[in-house]
Amino acid sequence: MSGIMAFRAADGDGSRGTRGFDATVAHPARVYDYWLGGKDNFQADRIAGQETIAAYPAIRSSARANRAFLTRTVSYLAGQRGIRQFLDIGSGLPAAPNTHEVAQSIAPQSRIVYVDNDPMVLSHARALLTSGPQGVTAYVDADLRDPAAILTQAAAVLDFTEPAAILLLAVLDHIPGLDQARQILAQLLAAVPPGSFLVISHAASDIDPEAMAEMTGRLNEHLAQASYAARPREVITRFFDGLDLVRPGVVTVTRWHPRSEMDSARMASHWGGVARKPGRCRPG
Ligand SMILES: C[S@@+](CC[C@H](N)C(=O)[O-])C[C@H]1O[C@@H](n2cnc3c(N)ncnc32)[C@H](O)[C@@H]1O
Repeated sequence: MSGIMAFRAADGDGSRGTRGFDATVAHPARVYDYWLGGKDNFQADRIAGQETIAAYPAIRSSARANRAFLTRTVSYLAGQRGIRQFLDIGSGLPAAPNTHEVAQSIAPQSRIVYVDNDPMVLSHARALLTSGPQGVTAYVDADLRDPAAILTQAAAVLDFTEPAAILLLAVLDHIPGLDQARQILAQLLAAVPPGSFLVISHAASDIDPEAMAEMTGRLNEHLAQASYAARPREVITRFFDGLDLVRPGVVTVTRWHPRSEMDSARMASHWGGVARKPGRCRPG
């Protein structure tokens, strides 16, 4: 099966406020795009971007390191673990290489579902929906706080009786309630079989804590909802409870299977890890 598929999920509980474009208020996807040096942002996002960079200049290189972590983890899962299905939640604005480009360069039949709740990401979905002919790429407009809606829509493309990778990169940072974050994870993981993987990256509250706290405070002043929360390594490690953490465990994103010693030594203010849901895979 090949082609382009896009869905529109219900607007969750609506608690995020307006679903329309609001160029006058900073949005997480667009501020992140600014940190990455992208052009898909408005003045409100650039102001938020500049103020947060002033508080914590390293956030720019850490955002880039986070994208490199995405590339390495997807390469690892597709290349070394045989994963052919990816659910990338909080996918953000396109920033090549995107998940489908990495996965399909290794396994062209890979199926990828992107999910985000930002209307601007939705408007750029076409750029993400460029699957190779053997695979499938789809986009779901939905909210991480409504995992059931995500899973229902994604099931049109992903076969949840087969292992899948759930990618939550720099998005749990936008779920400030710890219990809520854990419930979301439990719901997502319950839907996938043993042999599936969870990938998380998350802003670190315990690396350069004062600068990170200042940066977080400034970002929240600009967002429609002051929802951004960095967390310490210990808390992020516990997100993987019940799973088998792949070595080296939860480390700064630059230290997870680095391609060189120089890369590994780079500073990053995001923790990252990969874990496998234990148990036997269904015989194929
Ligand atoms: C910092 S960006 C990360 C993008 C990409 N995952 C990466 O790591 O490069 C966070 C993304 O999560 C999205 N996001 C934030 N809260 C969300 C929610 N409740 N549901 C779905 N997406 C959300 C934002 O719109 C944004 O695109």
